[in-house]
Amino acid sequence: MKICETIEEVRGIVGEWKKEGKSVGFVPTMGYLHEGHQSLMEAARRENDRVVVSIFVNPMQFGPTEDLDSYPRDLERDCGVCRTAGVDLVFHPQPEEMYPDGFCSYADMNGLTGELCGRTRPTHFRGVQTVVLKLFHIVTPDRAYFGQKDAQQLAVIRRMVRDLNLDIEICGCPIVREPDGLAKSSRNTYLSPEERQAALILSKSLAEAARLIDGGERDAGAIRKKMREKIAEEPLARLDYADIVRFSDITPVDRLEGEVLVALAVYIGKTRLIDNMIVTVE
Ligand code: PAJ
Repeated sequence: MKICETIEEVRGIVGEWKKEGKSVGFVPTMGYLHEGHQSLMEAARRENDRVVVSIFVNPMQFGPTEDLDSYPRDLERDCGVCRTAGVDLVFHPQPEEMYPDGFCSYADMNGLTGELCGRTRPTHFRGVQTVVLKLFHIVTPDRAYFGQKDAQQLAVIRRMVRDLNLDIEICGCPIVREPDGLAKSSRNTYLSPEERQAALILSKSLAEAARLIDGGERDAGAIRKKMREKIAEEPLARLDYADIVRFSDITPVDRLEGEVLVALAVYIGKTRLIDNMIVTVE
């Protein structure tokens, strides 16, 4: 497994693979890898001749008061995880390599980013899109793998690829959870034991929503209300949002129809956690 810090090295290696006619799968990450990331690597490993993983805590997608400095990092352990998963190349650039002095070009969109996480994190998706577009140009993958854990991000990347005619297949992968239901996240390491227990309120309120939908409820307002009430039951939890939107374009729905995204963001203490489920209603 190669570990590269420069764009030039990555271009050289991937260029050789392409000459040999190899297909390339790509998994962009911010590191501190867990089973959620591993599931993306495994899918990439199954479906491609070569697998590239990027590990880069992207400053541009963090707001001024967010956790850029405290975001957990462990490159050595991450490289071990990648090696075990059969990754061929890890790209671990320094911020200056990605954002040299004078950097001032961005990828952005007018739709899809106004709801859900875009409300509380207004510059987040511009940062995500910019770094992912740059990584796509550097790695030139045939396929790129994203988790449904960040469902709005997945929708944004799909739309960017469609709108800007990138010749890359975007593969969405299911949410990997702890045995008790908590979605795996690098940010779970911030939680104290009490908070870790309280964090179960996210998956529990999604389960509550699923029960209502299974029972025939189609009124988005009623489901939202139930989820908010459930979150309010947990003293350590503070709601950011509990919403239902159409998955394809992240616009709010009144009634459940087609493919909808039921999504939550909740502060548990100081830690902001997200979770969601995608439901297809006939
Ligand atoms: P990061 O949070 O490290 O996540 C990298 C990828 O792993 C994302 O596609 C995310 O959805 C996926 N992932 C995280 N937890 C998961 C889980 N429990 N189950 C399944 N997939 C999971 O998302 C980012 O980094 C960044 O925004 C990035 C795309 C790398 C751009 O900087």
